[in-house]
Amino acid sequence: MALALTGARTLLVDADYQANSTAAFDITPDPSHTLSAWLPRYGSSPLIHPHERISTLGILPAFITMADDEWEAIEAHVDPLSLAVQLRTTYAMDYDWMIIDCPPALASFWARVALLAAHRILIPITPGPFPLIGFRQLFNRIDYIRHHALNPPLRVLGVVANVVDVRTMFGRDVRALLTSITSETMIFRTEIPVAASLVNAQGRGRRILDDDPQNRVAYTFVTLLEEVLDRWDKPNDLMPGTN
Ligand SMILES: Nc1ncnc2c1ncn2[C@@H]1O[C@H](COP(=O)(O)OP(=O)(O)OP(=O)(O)O)[C@@H](O)[C@H]1O
Ligand SMILES: [Mg+2]
Repeated sequence: MALALTGARTLLVDADYQANSTAAFDITPDPSHTLSAWLPRYGSSPLIHPHERISTLGILPAFITMADDEWEAIEAHVDPLSLAVQLRTTYAMDYDWMIIDCPPALASFWARVALLAAHRILIPITPGPFPLIGFRQLFNRIDYIRHHALNPPLRVLGVVANVVDVRTMFGRDVRALLTSITSETMIFRTEIPVAASLVNAQGRGRRILDDDPQNRVAYTFVTLLEEVLDRWDKPNDLMPGTN
């Protein structure tokens, strides 16, 4: 949303059938017009929902039926790369940026589509006792994708600490925790604090940036965006532990 508010034409693609990004915008999609639309079973196209007020923002929503579709896609040996290419090319003229909300289960069909379509990956991490879980797996997968020339431009943009709670020892020393699993250059300066205002805005079907743009936490998303744009053409090539 911060990106769309700068005037850049932005498409938010929800590739996670938990559909949190979709719900955050209060959208109930037609199951046949999610990313599943491109599967042979549907043979249609996804439907972009324009944001009600921000004309530069479009949302390609997810729906829980994508969980069943995923099974079918795997059974039918649908190549996730074909959907990734479709996703990348279909909206290239209409949007300047595409943000894909990737499912947490990296081996899943939809995560593969997301990782094969993306040019850059932004990794949010919640500082806690188990930050390593999934982290190395993600880097291994990125390595695999790049070395098999499935998506050569794919790079890691960096790691951003979210839900930083200074009441915990991990929240108080986020950088020490993150540098124990990745290189210093990989870590974004911006940290997003634990924020009741963010959850409350979501509960009202709103986002913090339009609910309360002066809010301290809303501002962290603007500074994060500045860092993202600054890093875009100089992404990090280092794998964790190789600095
Ligand atoms: N900065 C924050 N402060 C407080 N709560 C937050 C913050 N960021 C996210 N949350 C809450 O944490 C929950 C998970 O957030 P989110 O969906 O962004 O995480 P996720 O990493 O995408 O999860 P998943 O891996 O399941 O997709 C949500 O209920 C959200 O409201
Ligand atoms: Mg998520």
